[in-house]
Amino acid sequence: MSASGVQEQWSSRMAFMFAAVGSAVGLGNIWRFPYMAGENGGAAFVLVYIGFVALIGFPVLLAELTVGRRGGGSPMASLIKLARESGKSEKWAWLGHLGAFGGGLGLLSFYSVIAGWVMAYIVKAATATFAGVDAAGAAEMMNSFEASPGVMTFWHLAFIGLTVYIVGRGIKSGLEKAVIYLMPMLFLILLVLVGYAMVAGEFAKAVSFLFTPDFSKINGNVALAAMGQAFFSLSVTVGTMIIYGAYLPKNINLTQSAAMIVVADTGVALIAGLAIFPLVFAYGLSPDSGPTLIFITLPIAFGQMPGGAIVGSLFFILLTIAAITSSISLLEPAVSYFVDKLNMNRWRAAIMGGGIAFTVGLLTVFSSNEWKDLLPLSFLGLDTIGGVPANFGKIIDFTVSNLIMPIGGLLLAIFVGWIVSRDSLRDELALPEGGIFEIWHVLIKFLVPIALVVVLVAGLS
Ligand code: PFF
Repeated sequence: MSASGVQEQWSSRMAFMFAAVGSAVGLGNIWRFPYMAGENGGAAFVLVYIGFVALIGFPVLLAELTVGRRGGGSPMASLIKLARESGKSEKWAWLGHLGAFGGGLGLLSFYSVIAGWVMAYIVKAATATFAGVDAAGAAEMMNSFEASPGVMTFWHLAFIGLTVYIVGRGIKSGLEKAVIYLMPMLFLILLVLVGYAMVAGEFAKAVSFLFTPDFSKINGNVALAAMGQAFFSLSVTVGTMIIYGAYLPKNINLTQSAAMIVVADTGVALIAGLAIFPLVFAYGLSPDSGPTLIFITLPIAFGQMPGGAIVGSLFFILLTIAAITSSISLLEPAVSYFVDKLNMNRWRAAIMGGGIAFTVGLLTVFSSNEWKDLLPLSFLGLDTIGGVPANFGKIIDFTVSNLIMPIGGLLLAIFVGWIVSRDSLRDELALPEGGIFEIWHVLIKFLVPIALVVVLVAGLS
């Protein structure tokens, strides 16, 4: 990517696919999906999630790629260009600000804290700390890590530093190439873990937990959680796919690309579930342990399998890389804006965006320890969110994932469905009238906005 707002293009379709899949596949699939499923009733959540991915996530993803390629600039610039083309208000640029700053930097602030845990676990795995550890030992390891704000801040800073470094330099072909080898390797290790879980874990129980839905468990909260997860996992509603679309050459088929991203992303999440839950049940862990779930489960597996120190370190290294290919895409929308609009040099822009995310992320760090019981909204009577204490960390996560992202998705659907001219869209998608175009347009114009309003209202009331 170049230093200006109007960018050079991906070197090939393959490079784009890896960058886009690299953005989509990350902690959201391997860390967040399993614990969200565990907290929200297992298969009921999975079912709603898959429905949302197909009927809402996919159309929104395609809409973002289309806006980006048509606009060709930062998310804000692209929104303005499309609004202008259709003779509508340029105020729509605000949607880009909400996404890039509220969504992108907000999400990066805690994404980086979790990625910091992952990096710390590379060291733990490599030094054979997991050898023979049981469920209580793994939980204790996690607890002592979380109890230390200094250690957590160190790793948070290390991860943000890496992200800023890559974004600051521009994404060189080195990263493009590395990702082409590393993402398949992560996939392979996940399969090894599933194999291990089949042999050593309660596989049948996990399959039934993930795929035999108890419909009575579906409610507004589950739907809101599944919607948040679908957007989070597909990297939509924060401007990432708009900016990645802006780097795309015209001859690439957007519909096909979006479909491939969705299939790869959902596949990795389901495989991660099949790797984790057999172990959760085998070791008597609770599926609803929350964000620490994989950090408690996987060390037990690595501690027991032959060659576990190597497989374990490799796993956490690859997960760090998967997280970096996502975090750079969280920083990019804000950076492209600073460069584009404020004429900042790319390095300064990256440091500024990273600095904001790092600082806000400290609230999440301290919510694991010193400020765990500090409930900043208790004066409004808001002491818990979904049964979890509403400390800063929880409030930031909830606000970004369950408010900013769905609202961003809603506004984007309104923009693309009702503001942008149909001809511009059809031209950019290179699709004939009727058929796929019509289905997508109806989904983005009616179903997505209605579903988002219903889910937001049901989930918040
Ligand atoms: N999709 C990434 C993941 O699943 O880990 C997270 C993410 C990246 C969300 C980029 C949003 C985004 F714009």
